[in-house]
Amino acid sequence: MLDNPDMSDADYDRLFRELQALEEQHPHLRTADSPTQRVGAEPESELPKHRHRVPMLSLGNAFDDAELEAWEQRIAKLVPEVLTAGYQLEYKIDGAAINLTYERGTLALGATRGNGVVGENVTANLKTVPDIPLRLQGKSWPELMEVRGEIYFPLDNFAHLNERREAAGEERFANPRNTAAGSLRLLDSKMTRARGLRFFAFHIESTEPLPISTLHEALDLLASWGFSVAPHRQSVPSLEEAKVVIRDLEHRITSLNFEADGVVVKVDRLELHHRLGIVGGREPRWAIARKFAAEVAVTKLRDIRINVGRTGALNPYAVLEPVEISGVTVSKATLHNMDVIAAKDIRVGDFVEVTRAGEVIPQVLGPVRERRTSGTKPYEPPKACPACGTPAERPEGEVAYYCPNGACPGRVLEGLTHYASRGAMDIRGLGVQRVQQLSEAGLIDDVAMLYALEPAALERLEGFGAKAAQQLVAAIAASKAQPLSKLLFALGIRHVGGEGAKLLAATFGSMDDLMAASEEQIAAIDGIGPTIATAVGAFLEEPKNRDLIERLREHGLTFEEPATATGSVLSGQTFVITGTLPNLSRAEAARLIEDAGGRVTSAVSKSTTAVVVGESAGSKLERAKDLGIDVLDEAGLLRRIGAAP
Ligand code: IVH
Repeated sequence: MLDNPDMSDADYDRLFRELQALEEQHPHLRTADSPTQRVGAEPESELPKHRHRVPMLSLGNAFDDAELEAWEQRIAKLVPEVLTAGYQLEYKIDGAAINLTYERGTLALGATRGNGVVGENVTANLKTVPDIPLRLQGKSWPELMEVRGEIYFPLDNFAHLNERREAAGEERFANPRNTAAGSLRLLDSKMTRARGLRFFAFHIESTEPLPISTLHEALDLLASWGFSVAPHRQSVPSLEEAKVVIRDLEHRITSLNFEADGVVVKVDRLELHHRLGIVGGREPRWAIARKFAAEVAVTKLRDIRINVGRTGALNPYAVLEPVEISGVTVSKATLHNMDVIAAKDIRVGDFVEVTRAGEVIPQVLGPVRERRTSGTKPYEPPKACPACGTPAERPEGEVAYYCPNGACPGRVLEGLTHYASRGAMDIRGLGVQRVQQLSEAGLIDDVAMLYALEPAALERLEGFGAKAAQQLVAAIAASKAQPLSKLLFALGIRHVGGEGAKLLAATFGSMDDLMAASEEQIAAIDGIGPTIATAVGAFLEEPKNRDLIERLREHGLTFEEPATATGSVLSGQTFVITGTLPNLSRAEAARLIEDAGGRVTSAVSKSTTAVVVGESAGSKLERAKDLGIDVLDEAGLLRRIGAAP
């Protein structure tokens, strides 16, 4: 029903605006469950605390079947009926626990778990989650109750978010759980909504009697009110059966679109819960989390190979005897860098432990020393680039070795792929495989050659029909319109990421002005350090690169940066963020400023508009005071952007 709307978007928008206007005129008629309240109309300036009516408990753990049996014996001593009461089994969702207060069937408040007694009120953000009913459906809900469950980040969604961030030159988020928790606490509900959080309900706290006697009925009841409940829940008559089902659930884990780190085993009959009580004020005796082991496999390390990155970084990876880890066959894994290989003394021919956690790529944990055979030798970092044979270099203070040859075929391939990627020139249909195909066919050696490609030449290649050839040529032509900032990022200048490219483009405005600038002038930009300035200078001095730029000019690429949209509230203003802000991460604050047309730099200077300070702000705050520059806190910043009253 949710993704199958019964009116058109246009009709919805019209009705929505009509409702908004009515509510403006008659605020007392606005209800907490009004659709206007779902978008997060009122961003909060800080998160108020909320005391849970009933504390939110945690769970004891069992790491193997023996610990699970010991738990059953303990509770059966207190209440022997548990042995015949049956168990309810549910995935333990690895997300962020929340508590929703419903008054007369309407969502009144939503809070994070916090320390279990006091959490934070994040109602506006929770109203953006589609699985959380603003008004309950059906009947037989109590006047007042708390519904508890887990907010999670769908894994497909998380992978897309990270792709978008990577393409935009932003850092990837490490894991779905922390990202879910962070997204819940954002100050702007629109940002929370854009993240696409979801919710599974699993618990009801109510002082009024409910028309149910078991936990599995409680879940049915939650579903009938409009909540989502996690898939694959099951009732079993005994612990013996529970153990079998748990193994099955563990095997299915890779097919889920959320992270689960175990199965919660719960005594199904509700009347026994009160009799079993709580241990240490924290853990109910009627439930326990049977944790899954993070699967580790042992396999043979066949080879250590090197992948050449576009900047020339030589990245080591493991070639493994194929092995299955949580349902996926793994034959390659990262080895991080040469220092890690040396520190763990990982050798070709060793048996190694390999693991795969969540969406993280497989990694080699280390060698199994006892199984090392004679004849293995410590790994020697490469003396030369495996793609072109140029002697490898290791810059002072860096862990990576580099291939310094700009024409290295390994680097060129990665460089071409990067040029076409989404955060760079965004050429649809030109991924790594196509790039490889075109380069092997001798059609492209560098990015300028892309613009000379003819459909006829492409049609001769395998897998290209007339239509695909036309489309690719059109997509390449369309990329000529990308602004200077994208082009600078796309060129793959060492140390120049998406943000640095934006700063360079915004400061100089055109390729010609940038090429005419001295390294000192480049280094003087707030947010561009001497490392970037030197790298940019070196890139632009290289005759081969100057030639490439001239050829791109002849193909008619945009060598200019459009002036920032005027009318944005912070247009032309420069901010420095320092210290720990109460709610926003620095990256989030920076994005808010940039979205409002402002710029964020790292050093305070006379041209800084204001310094945004959080806790433990240091010398930058001092310098702002010395220079008489405005100082704002997080709330002040949000007011300036118009995101808070
Ligand atoms: S029942 C009164 N069921 O695990 C006990 N908890 O370590 C209520 N969790 O904070 C917990 N999935 O947020 C329960 N299917 C599930 C769960 C689950 C995840 C979380 C829950 C709790 C934590 C305890």
